[in-house]
Amino acid sequence: MKQVSLTQYLIELQREKGCVSAELRLLIEVVARACKRISHAVSKGALGGVLGGAGTDNIQGEAQKKLDVIANEVLVEANEWGGHLAALASEEMEHPHQIPSRYPRGEFLLLMDPLDGSSNIDVNVSIGTIFSVLRCPEGVEPDEKAFLQKGSQQVAAGFAVYGPQTILVLTVGCGVAAFTLDRELGSFVMTQPDIKLSADTQEFAINASNARNWHPPVKHYIDECLAGKEGPRGKDFNMRWVASMVADVFRILSRGGIFMYPADSKHTKGRLRLMYEANPMAMIVEQAGGAATDGRQRILDIQPTELHQRVGVVLGAKNEVERVTQYHLKQA
Ligand code: AHG
Ligand code: MN
Ligand code: MN
Repeated sequence: MKQVSLTQYLIELQREKGCVSAELRLLIEVVARACKRISHAVSKGALGGVLGGAGTDNIQGEAQKKLDVIANEVLVEANEWGGHLAALASEEMEHPHQIPSRYPRGEFLLLMDPLDGSSNIDVNVSIGTIFSVLRCPEGVEPDEKAFLQKGSQQVAAGFAVYGPQTILVLTVGCGVAAFTLDRELGSFVMTQPDIKLSADTQEFAINASNARNWHPPVKHYIDECLAGKEGPRGKDFNMRWVASMVADVFRILSRGGIFMYPADSKHTKGRLRLMYEANPMAMIVEQAGGAATDGRQRILDIQPTELHQRVGVVLGAKNEVERVTQYHLKQA
């Protein structure tokens, strides 16, 4: 079988469909290279001294793991000298990182969750990296305000999963493709060319330990799923929760499903971050034919007001996401 590398996929998209510029392609390749480095560090585990806490807190007040810090450094170092970025922002940095003046400044803004699924690092469960690319408005300083664009403005979004295989999922607005890292060749090879999400599903993902805090529409939806064949849905549902969004979303892209981290009475604004978790995942899921809302509104239509803003997330199979959203809207 003829193998298509990430580079070839992007060059063909550039030539045939014009949905990626040479500049954007080069930026994506830099991010992909950084993900290979992170994958390598992750796979060493205790032998590479990369497990455990870093002894510091990030801007969200969450304890940073060594790998949160390492992954952030790898991504910053890989991206700052290439000339593609105007600035970059990260879950691990309070303010946007400006490109040092000794390097040329490019046209793009990169947002990232360097290491997603931190609670799984030390227990050998899949973790990943999420990224989103925006264009820096012309003539504008790439400060925090420049980043506050709706998700619908993203020009690319992707994530890597460091699991049994290292996989990169990518969209540049022309569908979604997934690439598996060939460790011998050191290159990402396309393994899922045009991912499409089924509109229906019998599998849901939610952290049920938050059940007591759920708002009534979420409780109602999950109760109906749990009632199975005998209940109003007339079918049995299965449940999965990896606690790494990258792994849960990759499963949904592979075999369908719905993922929810809704706002609740404890996480009143939601738990996940809009700009570098929800937006890139929403773009990917929509590009695959699925849907993504905060329970009421399309995630990609939300006007951000803060870099590290949180948001409720309901994404995946279109009909299920619509159902959950309707339950919220009816409650009004
Ligand atoms: P991060 O490690 O970047 O902070 O993100 C973890 C996120 C997400 O990946 C996952 O779906 C969720 O947090 C897990 O939350 P719980 O620990 O509440 O299950
Ligand atoms: Mn995360
Ligand atoms: Mn993270």
